Amino acid sequence: MSSIVIVGAQWGDEGKGKITNSLATNAKMVVRFQGGNNAGHTVNVNGETLVFHLLPSGISVPGVLCVIGLGVVVDPLGLVEEIDGVRAKGIEVGTNFLIDVGAHMVMPYHRAVEAAEEESRGGSAIGTTRKGIGPAYADRYSREGLPIGMLASFGDFEERLRKIAARKNEILTKLHGAEPLDVDAMVADMRRAAERLVPHLADTPELIRETVASGANVIFEGAQGTLLDISFGTYPFVTSSHTSAAGVAPGTGVPPSMLGEVIGVAKAYITRVGAGPFPTEAIDDLGETIRGRGKERGATTGRPRRCGWLDIVALRYAIGVNGIDRLIITKLDVLDAFETIPVCVGYRIGGGETDRFPRSAEELARVEPLYEEMPGWKADTTAARKHDDLPREAMAYLRRIEELTGVPVAAASVGAAAHAVVQFTEIL
Ligand code: IMO
Ligand code: MG
Repeated sequence: MSSIVIVGAQWGDEGKGKITNSLATNAKMVVRFQGGNNAGHTVNVNGETLVFHLLPSGISVPGVLCVIGLGVVVDPLGLVEEIDGVRAKGIEVGTNFLIDVGAHMVMPYHRAVEAAEEESRGGSAIGTTRKGIGPAYADRYSREGLPIGMLASFGDFEERLRKIAARKNEILTKLHGAEPLDVDAMVADMRRAAERLVPHLADTPELIRETVASGANVIFEGAQGTLLDISFGTYPFVTSSHTSAAGVAPGTGVPPSMLGEVIGVAKAYITRVGAGPFPTEAIDDLGETIRGRGKERGATTGRPRRCGWLDIVALRYAIGVNGIDRLIITKLDVLDAFETIPVCVGYRIGGGETDRFPRSAEELARVEPLYEEMPGWKADTTAARKHDDLPREAMAYLRRIEELTGVPVAAASVGAAAHAVVQFTEIL
């Protein structure tokens, strides 16, 4: 059996999409297991930049079957638009793309309710992507969700949708003082989306299990990052799904015993979009330099990302939560310009020191990072393709990450192009 799980080891945007896309050339299947179109996976295909939100990042690779697992929440209208956009770039989305019938749908009222909730939170807003992700997962758990498989029997779906939408309109108007949504228009939109999506619906858990059992390579592609996990992240400043490797089983129907290596993707520094504690945030010119060099702007919302230094305490925590076997360090080249590079190796809290990642956001907000200064390399690494091409200080930086985490670094990326990678060990 050969399946690997690719997870974000930080607050998302680690470059999981690019890694998944390049590994997909050796895979038979790429499966998304959680999240929705809050994700923005930027991939460079033949010199063109594509951003996938719901489509698995293997979709541009011919011969790879891409699956949206049942743990994902699918905005049908968003997905149709994404498929059209990707097809316009000459990428096939046909029999190479399946959606599990058990994935729940994100409906227009989820987005409307979320917008109203975020507004009413005022200064304590989470800073969500406003894609309706939280309300859609909440409905799934409160048993008021709509599995996408229902689109295949549209009459039943419409009946259920009208009942739920009427209740949501009450919430929108009476609680939030917002405008009600036009339910007839919603039904009509969904009818159009159903025509497009029903051909892709399938019962996939057994298919995925069989593919893993056959020995073919299957990639489970995570979205967001461990520190945004609903259970292990910096709650309440998290997303509403299990972004960590533990999410694969309930999100695909593949049991933990069938999962292989877990690959953690982390930037050579760290970023966060949205609100919440961020100990190593660089709020000075250095943060601005990272943001500029790393083009750190949200691929889904266009918001500038908050930037800071690599946080080893958080990374070790993510390694533990996911059981990360190997790391891929991305965007190493962004650090090419720095004289010295701070690495956070511990936290100071309440007069003491700790290397433990706090379990509450309140506690995390009170820590002060303890830095170790690594010498920078002040050289262009973007052309590096093998170990010897990297400056000594850049290699020392990667080695130090291995030392501090106890986990080997399998590769480091040094640019946006798929081939801009220094590979130390084979992955798939
Ligand atoms: P990828 O897959 C970075 C963040 C939002 C917000 C919080 C909750 O590209 O790594 P949500 O809309 O999910 O309820 O918002 O999570 N967030 C992400 N940050 N990368 C992502 O995805 C994210 N998806 C959600 O900014 O702080
Ligand atoms: Mg992203």
